[in-house]
Formats: sequence, structure tokens, C-alpha cells
Amino acid sequence: MTKTVTGFSKRNKQEKIDWLVSNFLKNDPKIVSTLKQYWNSDEKLQQLHDEFIENTISNFYLPYAVAPNFIINNKPYVIPMVTEESSVVAAASLVAKFWSERGGFKTEVISTIKSGQVHFMYNHNFDDLEIYFTTIKPKLLEATESITKNMRKRGGGILNIELINKTDKLDNYYQLHVTFDTIDSMGANFINSCLEVIAKVFRKESRSLGIEIVMSILSNYIPDCLVKAEVSCKIDELGENATEFAQKFYQAVQIAQVEPYRAVTHNKGIMNGVDAVVIATGNDFRAVEAGTHAYASKTGHYKSLTNCSITNGIFKFWIEIPLALGTVGGLTKLHPLAKLSLDVLQNPSAKELMQIIAVAGLAQNFAALKALTTTGIQKGHMKMHLQNILNQLGATLEEKVELLNYFNDRPVSFSMASDALQKLRVTKLLE
Ligand code: MEV
Repeated sequence: MTKTVTGFSKRNKQEKIDWLVSNFLKNDPKIVSTLKQYWNSDEKLQQLHDEFIENTISNFYLPYAVAPNFIINNKPYVIPMVTEESSVVAAASLVAKFWSERGGFKTEVISTIKSGQVHFMYNHNFDDLEIYFTTIKPKLLEATESITKNMRKRGGGILNIELINKTDKLDNYYQLHVTFDTIDSMGANFINSCLEVIAKVFRKESRSLGIEIVMSILSNYIPDCLVKAEVSCKIDELGENATEFAQKFYQAVQIAQVEPYRAVTHNKGIMNGVDAVVIATGNDFRAVEAGTHAYASKTGHYKSLTNCSITNGIFKFWIEIPLALGTVGGLTKLHPLAKLSLDVLQNPSAKELMQIIAVAGLAQNFAALKALTTTGIQKGHMKMHLQNILNQLGATLEEKVELLNYFNDRPVSFSMASDALQKLRVTKLLE
């Protein structure tokens, strides 16, 4: 059988599976039953999911969880999270409870501006280009009016169009830098549609100027779509060994400010919380990841997204993070669980969702730094991961109960769990 295929997307689901299994999976019938095991028995619901992307052959489950006890600006929240990492939700819940007893999280949206660029080449006089841009700018805005109508009704739309000379970076390279407020939608399709119309008119009207459009696309770098979340308390409210804890915690953040090797892992921990809520609400986690890490390097030096201060006996810990999110459009209302997540969050606006997700990131970083600067990370991690190890070892429900209990006050590793399971089985045999 050939391993390249044409017209694959036109085949039905069964035909796609047959082709895959016979060409790449040795016709193993178990594969087919695994794929089918994850099909939803509700055909309409399955079809909805099938149609999110092309060539769907099954569904890929990730756990959907909730982390209770968050207080954000004095309002209680339960935060929905989708993640495969064992300790993320437990950490979020613990930290939420901890800070709920110390005034909760305070948040504010700093700005909500997104941008996109029409990238183009032009190799004549800059003054002529500037004159052309000034005369054509009202026409560019006019041309997008039908697309921006609804967004303008909601208070958003195109904020400005600027001509930017980039020839110091690349010969003949210019751009139209267009800024947007997309209110409650993430706005990717809206921005791209506007940019394509702008590019078309800009090119068409330029006639003899020799403008060559290269591409028109939104930017996932959003340093002006920014939110801040913060916690603070008196140092002695931090619990056991408060002063030493605060100092070490502060140092851990300083290290992540100056050392990229640490900063990347530090920020990855933040994204454990951020992505889990971004996914649960049907938002675009790749856009958020790209934008956040670019923002972390905005000074030319990759840094921590969180900060810490200790002043006059007050411990303060905060995050500033760019987040492009939607609570309308995309999958947010189409995926039943994304919609449910927004219900759990009491149907936030995109601005409120930015604040909630910044809190999820800050909470996760607090949990990681607390563990790292005290007990070490593995104790909690491995404890949470023990269930997975036991499942991998094929432990029964009864064995799991006994072994979870056994490891309650012992360190955990794969081999230790495996040995303990063997011993337990031998003991049971001898009983
Ligand atoms: C693991 O997923 C995340 C951490 O490595 C984050 C950190 O080191 O800050 C624990």
C-alpha cells in the first residue's frame, strides 16, 4: 500500500481510520477500538467536535477540573482548568485558599490594544510614500466600515493606522501598523479581515508608486494588552518561618529576573496556570504562549513575568502579563465545555477573563516558588503523580488505596512505587 494519499480529507471517518491503520499501524484492530472508545455516543455532539478541525478521527481527552476559593477584587471565583499535569489544580486550590485568608487577589487591566501589520516593500522616495499614506488613510478606514460596524457598536474597532519606516532593519521594508480594540472577542479573524481590506485598497490606489504588499496579519505580540494581578500581606502573616520564607521567595524571583535559564522555567510554571484556564475557556493558548514569552523578552533579556517586593514589613507579589482573550467568538460559546467554563466564571467580559487568568498564573508561580524555596518541588509533584505511576503499573483500586496511604509520609519514585506494589502483592499472596 502507498503511504502518500490524495483526497484524504474527502474520505469519511471510517475510511480515514482504515487507511491509517492499514498503512501505519499494522492493521491492529485494537487501535480501531481505542479510537472508537473515545467517540461520543451523542452523534450531534460528536459531529460538532469533528467539524472543529479537518480529518478528525477521535477525541483526545484531557481532565477538566475546577479550583475553588479564589477571591479576586473581593469577588469569589471557582476557576475551571484543563491540564494533564498532576499538581497544577491542587496547587491552584491551595494557593487560592491561602490568599483568600489574606485579602485575596487584586487585579487591574492596564490596556487592551492589539495590533496587526500590512508588511510591504517600496523602493522610491519616502516623502512620496508619506504623502500618499496621508491622503489614502481616510479611504483605508472607510473601506473597513462594513467589517467594523458591529465592533464599533460595541465600543471597539480600528484605533489608528500608522505608516512605519522599517528600512533601517531591512531594505525597502515598510508597514502599516494598525491598532485595534476588539472588546470581548479575541479578534484574530476581525483583525485579519480588516488588514486584508486595508492592504487591498492601499495597493490598488497607489498605482504608479510601486508598492508591493508582502503580507497582512495580526501580531501575537501584544505589549499593550496588559493585565496586572497582585497579592500582598504583612510578612508575619505568611505563616511558618515567615521572614526567612519571604526573603528566599524574594531571592527566587530576583534570580528569575536576571537568569534566563531560571526565568524560562519560572515562566513555564506561570503558564501551567494560564494555559489551563485559556484552554478551559476555548481560547487560543498558542497565541497566549507566543505573546507572553515575547513580552518576557521585551527588554532584549528574557525575564520573569512576576515581581516581588518586601517594603516596610509588607510582602507583595505580582504579575504583569499580556493576554489576548475572548469571551465571545471562536470556540468560546461553541464548545459546550468552554461555554460551561464561562458560566462557572459567571460570564466574564474579556477584561474580567484577563484578570482571572493572570491570577491563575500568579497563583501557580506562588505555589511553585513556595515549594521550591522550602520543601523542594518533588515532594508535592511526585505525591500527585503517584496515581499515574500506580495506573501505569496496573495497580487495582484496592492496591492504590493501600499504596497512596503507604506513601503518605514517604518519598515517591517510579521504582519505589513499583517495589512497594510487588511487596504488597507478595504479602497478599502469603496471607
Ligand atoms: C513544572 O511544571 C513547573 C515548575 O518547574 C515551575 C518552576 O520551577 O517555577 C515547578
